[in-house]
Amino acid sequence: MSQEQWKSKIGFIFAAAGSAIGLGAIWKFPYVAGTGGGGAFLLIFLLFTLFLGAPLLIGEFLIGRKTKGDAITTYQRIAPNSSWGIVGIIGVVTCFILLSFYSVVGGWIIIYLFEALTGGLTGLSQDQYGMLFGEIIANPLPTLLAQLTFVLLTIIVVAKGVQKGIENASKIMMPALFILFLLIVIRSLSLDGASEGVKFLFVPDFTKLTSETILIALGQAFFTLSLGASAMVTYASYLPKTQNLPRSALSIVLMNIVIAILAGLAIFPGVFSFGLEPNAGPVLIFAVLPAVFSQMGFGMLFFIAFLILFLFAALTSAFSMIEIIVAAMTKKDKSKRKKYTWTIGILIFIVGIPSCLSYGVMSDVLVFDKTIFDLFDYAVSNVLMPLGALLISIFIPLKLSKSELFEEIRLGSHSGKMFFNVWYYLLKYFTPVAIIIVFMDALGLIDK
Ligand code: PHE
Repeated sequence: MSQEQWKSKIGFIFAAAGSAIGLGAIWKFPYVAGTGGGGAFLLIFLLFTLFLGAPLLIGEFLIGRKTKGDAITTYQRIAPNSSWGIVGIIGVVTCFILLSFYSVVGGWIIIYLFEALTGGLTGLSQDQYGMLFGEIIANPLPTLLAQLTFVLLTIIVVAKGVQKGIENASKIMMPALFILFLLIVIRSLSLDGASEGVKFLFVPDFTKLTSETILIALGQAFFTLSLGASAMVTYASYLPKTQNLPRSALSIVLMNIVIAILAGLAIFPGVFSFGLEPNAGPVLIFAVLPAVFSQMGFGMLFFIAFLILFLFAALTSAFSMIEIIVAAMTKKDKSKRKKYTWTIGILIFIVGIPSCLSYGVMSDVLVFDKTIFDLFDYAVSNVLMPLGALLISIFIPLKLSKSELFEEIRLGSHSGKMFFNVWYYLLKYFTPVAIIIVFMDALGLIDK
């Protein structure tokens, strides 16, 4: 069949931004920043995003567009008869495990939406929201059903194919999400004691930085930009040569940073104002936001709107995870798309069941001292994604010559030599060296 393509340049940016902006920026960033000490974490995360994430994003776009291949084929086409295809396989495995617990959190949003629509969230006090959430997610049946609903929504859209499904929807909801976030932030900032939260987020306290926190900030930078899993390689394979890759990448990086900071500003003032703990973990946003909304005029209506957009952001990321796996398996043979999407989606749901139960009946099942949910999250964010990113940053300059890369980057962008050189050296030297140092440090291999 003919090569699928995005309908418009802006459509691609929305779809790639849709993959990037999701639970990573909105749900995960506040909780890892909260656990990692606030300001210092934000700073390190920003540095990693700008100096490692952005170059890598351009790199993933570049090889995807160049080869028009899926996650695995791309590497095989550039380096035939080599084992570099393994990088794509790592990406496929990463996306599989990722979606298995991502869908759990997607399910939590659905449950909250249901509760908000049926009046279950009205008239509670601030600390009751946190408790209610704890009770809700401990209940196996509704959470599993909600998780299944999230997976089914993902399957249905992706089974329909790239153009129709993913692109159209992304264009409407992203700007809406942004505007609603602004509203929440305005309300948060006017809470009593909000300045404590702002200070926590922006004033770095470097005594709180540990090797582990630095690794988590690195993983977070890749997680939010969907890097290291060849997701962006796959999305860029549907691109025409006229797309300006550096500009697309930089706008996505910026949007992502803005959303993460807005999420932080929406959450931390509330955390301090309501006397909650910033290190509450994955439940943080769900415990704090309803309380913030309950302090707003028409709060419940706004909360419902927020949950719909939040769910949408999570779904557009989930689409990309399944898309990578399906694209790698079908090799763009459209006739198999439906069957594979359904099979993979259902398998992912099954593998995700223990993660869902980690907050209830399986909360005592610990592996390496972590619940299954935390273990999967840790493996994906702090091992697989940085590992994938490391391999990609080695692969690109190793297998493509400098002049080839320069030609490719200039297609559609007319980037100057200077920009190219900055990108090239950041990707070739800075990225792999930084990732290796962070890994070694986290493993305790660096003496201090
Ligand atoms: N970037 C997505 C998010 O922040 C997660 C993601 C990672 C999506 C890897 C696809 C591939 O939610």
